[in-house]
Amino acid sequence: MSSLNKKTIEDIAVAGKRVLVRCDFNVKMEDGVITSDKRIVASLPTIKYLLGQGARLILCSHLGRPKGAFDPQFSMAPVAARLSELLGQEVKLAKDVVGESAQALAAELKDGEAMLLENVRFEPGETKNDPELSKKFAALAEIFVNDAFGSAHRAHCSTTGVADYLPSAVGYLIQKEINFMGNALENPVRPLVAILGGAKVSDKIGVINNLIEKCDKIIIGGGMAYTFFAAMGNSVGTSLLDKENIENAKNMMARAKEKGVDFLLPVDNVIGREYKEDTTFMRIYSDSIPDGWMGLDIGPVTRELFAKSLVGAGTVIWNGPMGVSEWENFAEGTIDVAKAVAEATENGAISVIGGGDSAAAIKKLGFEKKMSHISTGGGASLEFLEGKDLPGIACIDEK
Ligand code: 3PG
Repeated sequence: MSSLNKKTIEDIAVAGKRVLVRCDFNVKMEDGVITSDKRIVASLPTIKYLLGQGARLILCSHLGRPKGAFDPQFSMAPVAARLSELLGQEVKLAKDVVGESAQALAAELKDGEAMLLENVRFEPGETKNDPELSKKFAALAEIFVNDAFGSAHRAHCSTTGVADYLPSAVGYLIQKEINFMGNALENPVRPLVAILGGAKVSDKIGVINNLIEKCDKIIIGGGMAYTFFAAMGNSVGTSLLDKENIENAKNMMARAKEKGVDFLLPVDNVIGREYKEDTTFMRIYSDSIPDGWMGLDIGPVTRELFAKSLVGAGTVIWNGPMGVSEWENFAEGTIDVAKAVAEATENGAISVIGGGDSAAAIKKLGFEKKMSHISTGGGASLEFLEGKDLPGIACIDEK
């Protein structure tokens, strides 16, 4: 899916209409305070466009994982407040999701006004995609717009089910995400290089398998590299090892070879005694981890090797950290890769970053503007990279 054949908000007449807009306002919070409003900000182009057209907006999202009942710690109140600030107009918060309060506020909306429903996961039917709940969402509005890319891999009532009962379209954020990620996969400027990290091979098998078919080069770092070490017959010490996937790792390397895809693994490592932030650590110039030690980051030679292999890249896809990037002693691999991706982008490559830890590393370095696209989706971007259809997009009316 490199371009969308789905209706977009510019294909539908919304003036004076009540439009239910599913956003992903699942923002990071600490003690009731939003610590990153990136996802709210990413939703603004769609919201502003629709308001400018004179639509009456019923915004909705989930926040965290409440258990199907009202729970104040997951209330959308902080989101309503931040949205009101960002839009410069009041966004009233309903006391419920599809109940009396939501219905009354929706009925009172005037052209160019917006309200927010309470956390859609306060309704027990939401995550079950219960058609009765989808009908209640639909009864609030005349049109459904999905712009929640981060939740597009969820087949829930507010992301998918409601589209059975209303005319639908996607918003600008979904369009943008699909354009960048879809083009990177289906129509890339070559060479296409993928950098994959993170702890578990099992999380990335689908992604690696799909990318072997499309990439010129695949770079592997992070905890999952040690399963590949084991697949090569190397010792891994006490490193993270996904025993069940050693065979899979072998097959992936064999397939990459068959296809002529360069498959790069770390050649040196930063190893520690224990999985602890202040553990004793050292660098070893080897791709075997000695007994009693665990690999916690890629080493300096590998960092240079990975950086060099990005020189001349046309497109770079990066998902997952190269080590335990939240601990200073083991963050350098991820930091250096972020720098190398930024440099490749400066030199003309298109860089597409999956959400989560790689995005966090980029933010920490202040490199957000240096990347072509940082996805707002974690799980959703992974499923997209696996080549899966995302139900929150598949359900939308065709153009
Ligand atoms: C995310 O943060 O990845 C999305 O908002 C989806 O959240 P979920 O994993 O709780 O469905």
